[in-house]
Amino acid sequence: MELPLSLTILLLCSTIVIGSPPPASALAPCDFPAIFNFGDSNSDTGGLSAVYGQAPPPSGETFFGHPAGRYSDGRLVIDFIAASFGLPFLSAYLDAVGSNFTHGANFATAGSTIRPQNTTFWQYGYSPISLDVQFNEFYHFRRRSQVARDRGGVYRQLLPEEEVFSKALYTFDIGQNDLTAGYFLNMSTSQVRAYIPDLLRQFSDTVKEVYNEGGRYFWIHNTGPVGCLPYVMDRLPVMQSQIDRAGCSSPYNEVARDFNSGVGKVLEQLRKHLPLAAITYVDVYSLKYALISEPKKYGFTQPFRACCGHGGKYNYNKNHGCGSKAFKDGKEVLIGKSCEDPLAHVNWDGIHFTEAANKQIFDHIVGGSFSDNKNPLRMACHKA
Ligand SMILES: *[C@@H]1O[C@H](CO)[C@@H](O)[C@H](O)[C@H]1NC(C)=O
Ligand SMILES: *[C@@H]1O[C@H](CO)[C@@H](O)[C@H](O)[C@H]1NC(C)=O
Ligand SMILES: *[C@@H]1O[C@H](CO)[C@@H](O)[C@H](O)[C@H]1NC(C)=O
Repeated sequence: MELPLSLTILLLCSTIVIGSPPPASALAPCDFPAIFNFGDSNSDTGGLSAVYGQAPPPSGETFFGHPAGRYSDGRLVIDFIAASFGLPFLSAYLDAVGSNFTHGANFATAGSTIRPQNTTFWQYGYSPISLDVQFNEFYHFRRRSQVARDRGGVYRQLLPEEEVFSKALYTFDIGQNDLTAGYFLNMSTSQVRAYIPDLLRQFSDTVKEVYNEGGRYFWIHNTGPVGCLPYVMDRLPVMQSQIDRAGCSSPYNEVARDFNSGVGKVLEQLRKHLPLAAITYVDVYSLKYALISEPKKYGFTQPFRACCGHGGKYNYNKNHGCGSKAFKDGKEVLIGKSCEDPLAHVNWDGIHFTEAANKQIFDHIVGGSFSDNKNPLRMACHKA
């Protein structure tokens, strides 16, 4: 007997549905009790401020109403991530006073690199808290927190339980400063490119080490289009022919994309070598580039000009940065907010994004459309 064609198709379809694993939507959303973050100023919630002095006003003013250890006018992507799980903002690991680590810790500091630099903070502004140091801090924290919890009392209300370490989300956002570090030492693009494998190796080693310490769920941001940021465009000018249609410096963005494709490959390898890990690679590069190249689509009128700064084509001057003091007519003045509406600006201070831009970035990555495995943030505990 010959089945009608439509019935045959129907039968084939149902076989496929029954035979395939349940769709991602059938899995339970993840309930991360904590977040441990590693990174640079893109996710620093007070680390550098705790050791080198508070990020000055007007940082923090849009959301916190005062400086809050963040290099932005308000919240960072990591703040929106924490809030989306109903967790309080992450305390900086280095912030010794008033911190609560029950729901995680933030090891990021502004100016951090993957590779330890051979320059000092005062020379070039790169933090000594490089990724290897951040891992050491995490390693120490994991053990010390349990010893302290055993003492009972307030320690039990300030430090995570042992089981939290295997249930937590581990987030990474680092690499941008490794790329600029070479350029600011006058290296050529080919010289910078030549050390990318070293960055990738050290990055990969750290993810493995976190896994060996019990970390299972990884949410990893790639690096942004650094060639679209005023501090790079102003300080490392390129030829007109190297400026792309959006107005960004192509060579720096090409290097960032090389680094990113390397990160993608490294994570593919790690998925094979770390059988219990769920790893999500998040392409924040594309999103940040979109905000800058199509600002209107995302509600911005100013893709480049810093909201807080002074002078130059981009309202950015290395020697008169946001929050610094300058002398005008013999009087000390603060380089404060010079834009009327931070909500209309993508860039806060020539280096960092505004809260409005960070919110856009979070809103677009949370659903998984920028994840290589299409994993939404809420599903980051599942292998996709
Ligand atoms: C710092 O110097 C050491 C020893 O020469 C070298 O191995 C390392 O790659 C250097 N780091 C950077 C970031 O250049
Ligand atoms: C620390 O935060 C947790 C929530 O994450 C809360 O339950 C606890 O009471 C806080 N500890 C203190 C001492 O406030
Ligand atoms: C890089 O080049 C500039 C301009 O020639 C120079 O002023 C600066 O000292 C150089 N920096 C280093 C680290 O060599």
